[in-house]
Amino acid sequence: MQSQSGNQQPPEKTPTALTQVGTDVGRAAGIVRAGGLVGMPTETVYGLAANALDAGAVAKVFSAKGRPTFDPLIVHLADVSDLSRVVSIVPALAWRLAESCWPGPLTLVLPKAATVPDLVTSGLPGVGIRIPAHAMAQQLLREAGCPLAAPSANPFGGISPTTAAHVVAGLGGRVEYVLDGGPCRVGVESTVVSLMGVVPVVLRPGGVGPERLEELLGHYETARSDAALDDSAQPAPGMLSRHYAPRTPLRLIAATGVAVPVPGRRSGLLTWGSESEIPGFDRIFRLCSEGNPEICAAGFFAALRDLDSAGLDVIIARQFREIGLGVALNDRLRRGAAGGEK
Ligand code: TXA
Ligand code: MG
Repeated sequence: MQSQSGNQQPPEKTPTALTQVGTDVGRAAGIVRAGGLVGMPTETVYGLAANALDAGAVAKVFSAKGRPTFDPLIVHLADVSDLSRVVSIVPALAWRLAESCWPGPLTLVLPKAATVPDLVTSGLPGVGIRIPAHAMAQQLLREAGCPLAAPSANPFGGISPTTAAHVVAGLGGRVEYVLDGGPCRVGVESTVVSLMGVVPVVLRPGGVGPERLEELLGHYETARSDAALDDSAQPAPGMLSRHYAPRTPLRLIAATGVAVPVPGRRSGLLTWGSESEIPGFDRIFRLCSEGNPEICAAGFFAALRDLDSAGLDVIIARQFREIGLGVALNDRLRRGAAGGEK
């Protein structure tokens, strides 16, 4: 990741008196056991974690994020042996997927057990389950001894956090403790696959790319992302059009398009690739010169934050090649740009 013009980092708020940052997993485990909230590092993005079996704790997650209760939460487990605590039936395909993708950036929607409060699933019969790979998340899950409901740890609709400082910048004062596990390795959220019907349905593209899904699932359907961009035709809960959005208006150009600043407006560019001279931009963030989507993903949300805090009038973003994690990144870009300019 390299910043071509302007080297200063985005301003990061210092932790408020009510939010502390550290690496004390025992302390974080105590907080969630007592019904509180903690910031949890995972390999995808940071989560805002609460005891998934405690409806009161889960309610705090929705209010801290300002998240509507029709948008269900993912439940995180330490190990497949915990599945029976939260899931009523585990289809054979789920075991196969678990074997090759867990721990990792895959969420499976499976029939929920009665122990899971309806608030977690927004009243749906399925619960989203993920086993994260990050060592600190694993340690927290084991020490807390309970499944953890955790959405991305950002105010609803905003840019997902990939460092502990991002969590504090968005939710400082609304979460007791943030575990600092360093920058997230994958950088984009998990792929969400529903196994509630006869045919698997990919509800959200994410950290497991489409090529791998095809190998693993064979035939599957995709909740149409263009349909999801129209809120009247929401195919999956929580797939709102305007999401992952910077405050600065975001405009997209094609992967092979020419980047041109908007005349008379302070323009920023989020790009990848090796073109050397791009005149006229006030700030340029180049994610990776080869355009490797895995490398681009790791720095993607931090780059959007950097540009969003640079006092620009508009951010122009180059879309990614539709391969691997590029599919998930383009989905996030489209949602970030949806809803028009303010
Ligand atoms: O990588 C990730 O998935 C991160 C980390 C923290 O694990 N979590 C995350 O959570 O991205 P969140 O809340 O920002 O996005 C969860 C999305 C929901 O908006 C919804 O689209 C889908 O996952 N989802 C969760 N539970 C579901 C359910 N029961 N049925 C259908 N979709 C569900
Ligand atoms: Mg989110």
